[in-house]
Amino acid sequence: MLFLGFTKWILASLWLFQGILGYGIDANEALGLRNLTRELFYHGYSNYLDLAFPLDELAPLSCKGLGPDFKDSHNLGVNDVRGNYLLTLIDTIDTLVVLNDTEGFHEAVRKVIQHLTFETDTKVQLFEATIRILGGLLSGHVFASDPQYGFQLPGYNNELLTLATELGERLLIAFRTPTKIPFARINLMKGVSSKETNESCSAGASSLVLEFSMLSILSGNPEFRKAAENAFFAIWNRRSSIGLLGNSIDVMSGNWIYPVSGIGAGIDSFYEYAFKSYILLDDIRFLQVWEESLSNIRQYMSSTEDYYYQNVYASSGTTATYWVDSLGAYFPGLLVLAGELESAKKSHLYYFSIYMKYGQIPERFNFHTKTIELQGYPLRPEFAESTYYLYRATKDPFYLEVGKIILKNIEKNLRTSCGFASLDNLQTGVRSDRMESFFLSETLKYLYLLFDESNIFHSKFQDFLFTTEGHLLPINTLTHKAVNSYKRQHPGTCLLNPDENYAEPSFFSKIASREDFDYVFEMVESSHQHVVDGIIDPNGICARPRVADVVEILYGNVLLPPFKSTERSMNQIYVPTLIGNRIRLIKYIDNEYYRIFKIGNQRAGDNDTVYLTDPNYAMFMSLQTLHTPTVSAHLVSVNTKEEAYSEFLHVHEGTFEEPLQLPLAFLNTSLCNKLPFSLTPGVAYIAPTGDCSWLQQAKNAQKAGLLLLLDQDPRTNKTKLMQESPSSYFFGLIKPYVPPTIHLDSNQSFVLQWGNITVQKVQKDAPCYFQNSLIENFYVCETCFDERDYLINRN
Ligand SMILES: *[C@@H]1O[C@H](CO)[C@@H](O)[C@H](O)[C@H]1NC(C)=O
Ligand SMILES: *[C@@H]1O[C@H](CO)[C@@H](O)[C@H](O)[C@H]1NC(C)=O
Ligand SMILES: *[C@@H]1O[C@H](CO)[C@@H](O)[C@H](O)[C@H]1NC(C)=O
Ligand SMILES: *[C@@H]1O[C@H](CO)[C@@H](O)[C@H](O)[C@H]1NC(C)=O
Ligand SMILES: *[C@@H]1O[C@H](CO)[C@@H](O)[C@H](O)[C@H]1NC(C)=O
Ligand SMILES: *[C@@H]1O[C@H](CO)[C@@H](O)[C@H](O)[C@H]1NC(C)=O
Ligand SMILES: *[C@@H]1O[C@H](CO)[C@@H](O)[C@H](O)[C@H]1NC(C)=O
Ligand SMILES: *[C@@H]1O[C@H](CO)[C@@H](O)[C@H](O)[C@H]1NC(C)=O
Repeated sequence: MLFLGFTKWILASLWLFQGILGYGIDANEALGLRNLTRELFYHGYSNYLDLAFPLDELAPLSCKGLGPDFKDSHNLGVNDVRGNYLLTLIDTIDTLVVLNDTEGFHEAVRKVIQHLTFETDTKVQLFEATIRILGGLLSGHVFASDPQYGFQLPGYNNELLTLATELGERLLIAFRTPTKIPFARINLMKGVSSKETNESCSAGASSLVLEFSMLSILSGNPEFRKAAENAFFAIWNRRSSIGLLGNSIDVMSGNWIYPVSGIGAGIDSFYEYAFKSYILLDDIRFLQVWEESLSNIRQYMSSTEDYYYQNVYASSGTTATYWVDSLGAYFPGLLVLAGELESAKKSHLYYFSIYMKYGQIPERFNFHTKTIELQGYPLRPEFAESTYYLYRATKDPFYLEVGKIILKNIEKNLRTSCGFASLDNLQTGVRSDRMESFFLSETLKYLYLLFDESNIFHSKFQDFLFTTEGHLLPINTLTHKAVNSYKRQHPGTCLLNPDENYAEPSFFSKIASREDFDYVFEMVESSHQHVVDGIIDPNGICARPRVADVVEILYGNVLLPPFKSTERSMNQIYVPTLIGNRIRLIKYIDNEYYRIFKIGNQRAGDNDTVYLTDPNYAMFMSLQTLHTPTVSAHLVSVNTKEEAYSEFLHVHEGTFEEPLQLPLAFLNTSLCNKLPFSLTPGVAYIAPTGDCSWLQQAKNAQKAGLLLLLDQDPRTNKTKLMQESPSSYFFGLIKPYVPPTIHLDSNQSFVLQWGNITVQKVQKDAPCYFQNSLIENFYVCETCFDERDYLINRN
């Protein structure tokens, strides 16, 4: 076991030698980092204005401007965002406000008014045009027009709002479909082509609500909000029977095209806009969508210990891919906003460990092979954004350190003579000639806000909401009155637990001193490279993880969804088909054996019984040919070319007739150790029972190149087997781990249940809200009851 239990003790002695020094980032260093962020911003922005404007983007290697690819209309990666409409200027407009650059802001607004026209023959993505251009114009309009913020432009005559309304009207055409789900792309001048693709991703079709609602509120025309809202609920209403959305949908038929769910690319901002629309509009329906979504995300997508979220089939909730994407790094930030701090911290830590492994977060990271699945870093903001939210909610010095690492890496590795380049390949460092507009709009904006403690948006003007593109929209009585029905009484507010969050600025970081800190790096096979050593509490403990090993058993192809989902009825779990349904086994550190944690989409609880009703398996069970009293597993050698992850076990699928025609051979050694000789392809092997667990044998079998057939010999002593290796006893009574659950009972009391332990705590004002420095109504319940009480009661 590679556990880094000693790291912190070594640190402790180092710490004594060095005496008590302030290692963490102090106020002055934070200001220095803020100043550096500002400097980087103007390096990018001035070069854009000098070298690229009025084109959409700056090319940071060739130092010129970039517009749409007029020659190749299918070049979507470019044309989806570069609409020939001053993209970077408009997207950056309110970053100038955040930087308190009144003059720069006024100059930018004047430039937009003078140069912007939508009478251009370009086909853009509805989503990108909305979040980048419409969002930028609306935010710019709020600051240019409203004197209370101090950025009012003399002589301003609502020009940005007029432009935003014109864009909104052009975009409305995309919503004319039978489902009310809009087309993904639209030509600004010509509308939607009859040959336009019918496929739209869920995020693109649904996360228009903030901008379109704001446009309705400011322009007085309710059509925009209605269109975006209809699209949002048209997507939501098509969720699967277990409440999950697919990734992309046919806007004409409303059928899912890619029915895989997740929190990242293609779906991400659906959840974001569910929660944020509730905040902006005070419309309870959006909160309900968020709450139901979060509960389903937790049930089906959350990894064993909640550090990351997997993509799953929308119909069954079983794993569909083995990667997390860099876009998903926004999720911890959203969790903070919704008051889910503990989950936010864990998830952020997981992304941080990926970050430290590569110096950036790759587009996709495979959590099983622990390698990059898709290279590249196009200057994305999501990780910086989450770091910012977590710092505002906790004030933990760890997040300043993370921000500093992000900032310094950008400066050192991505800065060019005229801007900032994207990375094509994280490992080779090969750059590409592109600076996406969100780099100035979001990445640097969030970093600036992270380091600028006295920023006015943290105090006087905290009632602002960031759109998914980082644009600032005001939350006020106007927005809260936009939708009159669907209100509910606010249940009151409460403060974040002062212990946890508003304590005296601590010398040490609670995050870097978490028991599981090293564990997360271990999971990713990464290292924190001692960058946060100075803020780790020398008296902290480095706990062993609860989980020692997690194994999934797969039947059939890795990526096959189950033909039928696993279903539950009271304490009974039915598995109608093995193929595609995974069985996840967990070995807890203090246990000798593996427990079944999940079967298909069902978490197996105490007292649950699993019934396997797959006729294929029954057929296999009735074949006596391969059974002998001494056999523990039938191993069929097949020269497999099948894609396999080493930690997974593949169980042979099919009718089982083929293996019977193979010659049989008896192994003279059990599979408890690695086989000391090689096996002959095309032979079926029978191994004697070993002393180790069935799972260990199965793992060694796979390492030897075998595909495994499960055996459940009716003559074996099940009581004995159960005691020795419960994992081999799949299809009877099982004793899996029971996670604790917390729910509200009819008296509004929190009840914690863990196995046969029940703890109750009366909660007067639940659920509750608290006031945070960013916006009202951060929705925090985590801190309104104190987990430590449970710990005390339990002991
Ligand atoms: C940051 O910039 C401000 C304004 O230019 C300056 O007054 C201050 O000294 C700078 N602080 C640091 C630490 O560089
Ligand atoms: C913003 O800049 C103005 C001058 O343009 C200055 O008076 C004001 O104090 C600044 N605000 C903050 C919060 O720094
Ligand atoms: C979109 O769907 C409509 C209606 O089903 C169909 O007629 C059209 O061919 C589809 N368009 C494309 C590009 O597939
Ligand atoms: C398990 O079964 C026993 C006996 O029927 C019962 O008393 C107990 O409450 C059950 N436990 C759970 C968690 O359902
Ligand atoms: C076990 O079988 C292998 C392969 O047939 C053979 O090489 C080895 O000598 C055998 N070992 C014993 C102890 O019989
Ligand atoms: C099965 O094993 C258990 C535990 O080892 C033992 O008590 C029991 O007698 C065995 N049953 C039979 C039928 O051998
Ligand atoms: C709720 O409170 C009432 C009165 O105190 C009590 O009789 C009842 O058992 C409580 N219900 C639950 C589920 O605890
Ligand atoms: C549940 O109750 C039984 C009997 O009272 C006890 O032996 C067992 O340790 C308890 N389980 C847990 C998890 O505390």
